[in-house]
Amino acid sequence: MENTVTKKEIQEFIASNDYYITAKKIMRKFGVSHQKASSNINAFRKKKSSNNSNNENSAKFHNENGNAKQQARMKMIKYIDRSNLRTGKILTLPFSKCIIEKELMYVVGKNNFEFIGYERDKETYWDMMKTILNDKLPIYPVLGDISEEIQTAYEDKYSHLILDYCCQLNTIADDMISLFNGNIMKVGGIALLTLNKRICKVGNADKIYNQMNQLVKRDENELETIHAMKVFFSKVCGFNYSIEEIFEYHDTASMVLIVIKRIR
Ligand SMILES: C[S@@+](CC[C@H](N)C(=O)[O-])C[C@H]1O[C@@H](n2cnc3c(N)ncnc32)[C@H](O)[C@@H]1O
Repeated sequence: MENTVTKKEIQEFIASNDYYITAKKIMRKFGVSHQKASSNINAFRKKKSSNNSNNENSAKFHNENGNAKQQARMKMIKYIDRSNLRTGKILTLPFSKCIIEKELMYVVGKNNFEFIGYERDKETYWDMMKTILNDKLPIYPVLGDISEEIQTAYEDKYSHLILDYCCQLNTIADDMISLFNGNIMKVGGIALLTLNKRICKVGNADKIYNQMNQLVKRDENELETIHAMKVFFSKVCGFNYSIEEIFEYHDTASMVLIVIKRIR
């Protein structure tokens, strides 16, 4: 793999993993050396910081970045707050700071929900543990891939799912099929998913990529991408779910928040 992988592929993988990338992840994914992985991360960060400093003169762009993630978080909280399910379990990806979970507790009440917080990156996991212990949060932390839980959870186990992945749809396509076919979320529950607003060939979901790619004719950030995502989720969700909103925002990249409600 080391000989065939291109710099562009590695750079795209880094961009899709955002600031959670590590050299180890790149080595695992592409089988490249530690040196190659690190130099790609450095090149990515150098380019990003030069883009950022070029944008410093534009207050609008800078603010938009910061506010948009927070705007997406507030939307997630609003959907859960307005749902009929204000108690029970929430499956989530809190990251080290547990921002959404804390804000949700503030809005809905500290003891309403019990959170199951997954994190697959060891360092982030320990930082998340510190936040949970320091702030005495009702979050049960699990070190591992949330995919394991999504694939095996029993029907109606969760009230809501906060899947703030910020990843590419292809990498989680199989989990989405398990989640919605398995009805692991109760009726009235909300699934909140954040994804990169692009459809490209990552992971092994070639079949899904090929199906969706037929619907995307122009650039990756065009309307067709959103349409292809809608088609994917409509197919996977069936009649038990409704796609409530697809909110486009710009964080460090173009993102979408997909809001799906279980209606029966
Ligand atoms: C975008 S961050 C979450 C941000 C957080 N919700 C916030 O509002 O700041 C996603 C986190 O989930 C972790 N993650 C992503 N996919 C995962 C998976 N399949 N299983 C476990 N952890 C995952 C990443 O390592 C990262 O720490």
